[in-house]
Amino acid sequence: MSDAPTTRRRFIQSSATAAAGATAALNLTAATTAYAAGKGTLKVGLVGCGGRGTGAIQNAMNADDDVQLVALGDLFLDQAQGTLRTVKRNYKDPAKAKKVAKNVNLYYGWDAYKRVIDDVDVVCMATTPHFRPMMLKYAVDQGKHSFVEKPVATDPVHLRAIWDTCQEAKKKNLAVVSGLCWRYHYPKVETMKRVLDGQIGDIVSIETIYNAGTLWHKGRGDKWSDMEYQIRNWLYFTWLSGDHIVEQAIHSLDKMGWALKEKEPARCWGVGGRQVRTDPKYGNVYDHFSLVYEFDNGIRGYHQCRQMSGTASRVRDYIYGTKGIADIFGHRIEGEKPWRYPRRGKKNNMYQTEHDEMFASIRAGKSINNGEYMCKSTMLAIMGRTAAYTGQIIDWKKLWNSKQNLAPPKYELGPLAERPVAMPGRTAFI
Ligand SMILES: NC(=O)c1ccc[n+]([C@@H]2O[C@H](COP(=O)([O-])OP(=O)(O)OC[C@H]3O[C@@H](n4cnc5c(N)ncnc54)[C@H](O)[C@@H]3O)[C@@H](O)[C@H]2O)c1
Repeated sequence: MSDAPTTRRRFIQSSATAAAGATAALNLTAATTAYAAGKGTLKVGLVGCGGRGTGAIQNAMNADDDVQLVALGDLFLDQAQGTLRTVKRNYKDPAKAKKVAKNVNLYYGWDAYKRVIDDVDVVCMATTPHFRPMMLKYAVDQGKHSFVEKPVATDPVHLRAIWDTCQEAKKKNLAVVSGLCWRYHYPKVETMKRVLDGQIGDIVSIETIYNAGTLWHKGRGDKWSDMEYQIRNWLYFTWLSGDHIVEQAIHSLDKMGWALKEKEPARCWGVGGRQVRTDPKYGNVYDHFSLVYEFDNGIRGYHQCRQMSGTASRVRDYIYGTKGIADIFGHRIEGEKPWRYPRRGKKNNMYQTEHDEMFASIRAGKSINNGEYMCKSTMLAIMGRTAAYTGQIIDWKKLWNSKQNLAPPKYELGPLAERPVAMPGRTAFI
């Protein structure tokens, strides 16, 4: 797979006295070997200092008593500085302050991810999804544990690459914990456990819905190149986000995979388009999809998702069986053996739990690896997008071997043409 070319290394120290570009060696205490198990400070860092990353790194810092933030990296310095400000504000209490290194290394530029990974034992990855495969590969090559936000790729070529990396991580006993957070939400875990134990009989069909409103758009800065404009507005460019079915509705498709024990669908067909979000500022993504996934055992999975303001929001997943129906978001089962998650049942912050479990697994020397489901759920979403974009019936095996690679010709903050909006019947399956 392609990797980002190394550009001039950019580094600054976070202390008030350090000048930009100050001697990097002073502050670099690179963790060059994998942290295996047991006690000792775990150094953590973040690549991708946006909204989710800023939350994820604090989840990591709260997950274990002996964790220290040592590095933050982003393509853009303003983003890394913003995360540092937030973290410092939230950790200024003396009891917590030791969790932030005196000088947190701030990196920016295309190779910031490598510098962060070099510095840490555990890295949180929350950049724009396109970059996940190259970043996880570097982390696993360096023997580092990773928390990996969803989705994990935006095309089949990079999905295959990250699949291989996850296998490699397993061999090295490195944690790869996925940001498909509902798998760490206790009420949903309990509901799904009952589905998997047969409480609704044999599964006949699955309905997943992610109908929501629109998200942010950052406009265009005067000095931004095309590449910067697209990355700062990454939701609207398929090469960066995968489209909203991959970036957002993956949470619902992940429930389909979960209920069917990651069984792959044989084929998928459906429709999608761009009905409301037609302004050129919305790049080349669609605003709705509706798909059918057909499995060889006769099960069908139905999925619809929408991002349109002024429409009814509805995010629900239902699993229909021969003896009952599971309402995954309602945490209940109706049918021969009705059940609902107790009102006083244990509640949890799933974002925190995924980090708690990751750090506990690292300490125990039995690192969690969510690689299989995070890759397959990403592929389910890419499959739906491909069916809608092409208007064809998409075969899982052919898609898995597809040569579609959405990477740009080069990673550089310069000119970058926007790809056209896909047209069913005209856009080819590659
Ligand atoms: N699990 C969840 O519930 C959940 C919620 C929100 C977001 N997410 C996921 O988290 C990821 C980030 O989403 P966000 O909302 O925080 O976006 P964001 O735009 O706020 O942050 C992304 C950050 O990545 C940086 N970045 C982009 N390319 C980079 C590169 N090559 N190297 C270094 N930094 C780079 C951007 O500059 C930006 O600061 C996405 O994959 C998104 O799907 C997950």
